[in-house]
Amino acid sequence: MSATLIDGKAAAARLRLQVAEAITARCASGKPAAGLAVIQVGHDPASSVYVASKRRACEEVGITSFAYDLDANCPQDELLALIDKLNLDSRIHGILVQLPLPAHIDGNAVIERIAVTKDVDGFHPYNLGRLAQRRPLLRPCTPRGVMTLLENYQIPLAGMDAVVIGQSNIVGRPMLLELMQAGCTVTLCHSRSRDLTTKIAAADLLVAAIGQPAFIRGESLKAGAVVIDVGINRLPDGKLCGDVDFATAVQRAGWITPVPGGVGPMTVATLMQNTLQAATFTDSK
Ligand code: GUN
Repeated sequence: MSATLIDGKAAAARLRLQVAEAITARCASGKPAAGLAVIQVGHDPASSVYVASKRRACEEVGITSFAYDLDANCPQDELLALIDKLNLDSRIHGILVQLPLPAHIDGNAVIERIAVTKDVDGFHPYNLGRLAQRRPLLRPCTPRGVMTLLENYQIPLAGMDAVVIGQSNIVGRPMLLELMQAGCTVTLCHSRSRDLTTKIAAADLLVAAIGQPAFIRGESLKAGAVVIDVGINRLPDGKLCGDVDFATAVQRAGWITPVPGGVGPMTVATLMQNTLQAATFTDSK
């Protein structure tokens, strides 16, 4: 058996096109386009790649991108003051602070400073709380992007036993909430979870967000499982590799996302979707 490939690159291109059309329609009706402030503190090479792709996506869909590149030693107060200013700036509908931040900055204080209506990452406790209460407002991009992929491929989630590996605030925890809302029975695992093998073998849907290349091999999967690989690991030869060993998993899964070209492009496209959503909050009714 060979799994059906879930093409995140194509789905992301469709989503970006939908956002671009909505932005064009907004402008045609006299509404402002949408503005996204992307803040990077320091020069972490991986972060620079992600930030550049976010800014490029803005340009493609017609969202105005405002770049703030701060020195790695930037005092926390300066970053908070910038966020305060952006919260009040009517040209800016979304504010994104690229993570991780340097160790001297309290990431939670930064996230909580962003106005909840401009929190396009969906990381503010208010937005996570709304998701937990089953009345989401702005939803974290990667889990929302995964849900869009699953919807695109009409995968019937209700009643599925889903296993999420990785309990981060960015992916694992909001992914748990999204899958619960879709009617899955969800197990959230992490590095100290006991008997991971049994849990993985029972999963109708597996989301891997571990950060270890090829951690999950095809033999471990339930036959026909839906496999969503959130991992983006750079190998010594420079190639990208997911958390799932694709070559063996594709033989046993029913559906699988490749790396690259699976979840990654959906994260950026969903950020565009969230920024458009945030812009609608300020439209006069
Ligand atoms: N670092 C890794 N993923 C993300 C993300 O989705 N948003 C932000 N702001 N930083 C990240």
